[in-house]
Amino acid sequence: YSLHDKNTLRLASCAEYFATFTSSDELAELVRWAEQKSLAIRVLGGGSNVLMPEFVQGLVIQSKDETVSVVSEDENSVVIDVAAGKCWHDWVVESIQYGHGLENLALIPGSVGASPVQNIGAYGVEVSDLLVSVTGFSIAEQRMLTIEKADCDFSYRDSVFKNRLKNNFVICSVRFRLNKLFSPNLEYAPLNSLEPNTFSAQDLIDFVVGVRSAKLPDPRLIPNAGSFFKNPIVSTETAEDLKNLHPTLPVYPVHSSPQSAKLAAGWLIEQCGFKGKAYGPVAMYEKQALVLTAPGEADLQDVARLQSLVQTEVESRFGVRLDPEPQLFTD
Ligand code: EPU
Repeated sequence: YSLHDKNTLRLASCAEYFATFTSSDELAELVRWAEQKSLAIRVLGGGSNVLMPEFVQGLVIQSKDETVSVVSEDENSVVIDVAAGKCWHDWVVESIQYGHGLENLALIPGSVGASPVQNIGAYGVEVSDLLVSVTGFSIAEQRMLTIEKADCDFSYRDSVFKNRLKNNFVICSVRFRLNKLFSPNLEYAPLNSLEPNTFSAQDLIDFVVGVRSAKLPDPRLIPNAGSFFKNPIVSTETAEDLKNLHPTLPVYPVHSSPQSAKLAAGWLIEQCGFKGKAYGPVAMYEKQALVLTAPGEADLQDVARLQSLVQTEVESRFGVRLDPEPQLFTD
């Protein structure tokens, strides 16, 4: 079964088996079937944050459930369950009918079910800020479980779903609490150029869509997986030393850890001369050096080669190790 159209880098890839599900009963049946045949189960979301190997052994499953249902409501907030198969951006656009908080996360590719896995974030907001809990099927326990936010171990681009629950928990729905009051987070550039109280939630979504479209490639036109590396987190001393040597290096605070600072990986990569440069069928994007694109027909090896070239160069020049953001699908 070809996965070429199911990963946004469009890497050449095939799965042994592939199936979709729209309910927890269908999912339980697929899990039983896979166990009878001793097949590994791999969960695919929108395919926008994965590196696909040429062959994926076992059963690949994907939620097609797009249900949105209001759970409860009070004067300040509304609690809503959204099924894993819903397209993330469609949900953000719809969410403003119910409440607020997700506007900064417009146009992030992928599905709602994938959003907690790497705790997607942009412009000072992370999905964990609005999330109440995650419900899914535990393969080990063979039953549906709800994981409360406090147990999700959220941090920058990380969660329990990438660690302890990896390959063992199929996310079926995500519960959000949205605020009735529209009080946007405008801390981060370029949103900090907006005049508070002069625009609607829809205007903010449109603004974010404009900003992202101007510098991030549309995966339907130029295959890519968004930021290819995480912004590295270093000690504040290391950040200061680097800033003294390179005064234009962008450095950001890490709210959860005052001893740490986050560096702009895109800047480091651009300084090493990779911006806009092609290496066979893959390249570092000309408008945002942090994005690896695959304009030609590429496979995992092409990506891995450029990944390690960038890592080696950035590490030798700045002493900082870059970790990739997309995950190898079979890890
Ligand atoms: N920069 C350069 N050269 C480049 C790219 C960036 O000098 O080629 C500089 C920019 O000028 C800016 C700084 O680096 O001063 C940060 O750039 P940007 O605002 O574009 O954000 P980013 O840190 O590169 C992160 C997220 C994005 C998210 C944006 C906006 C990560 C790994 N990436 O990118 O998320 O949209 O902030 O909040 O944290 C994604 O995860 O796939 C993603 C796109």
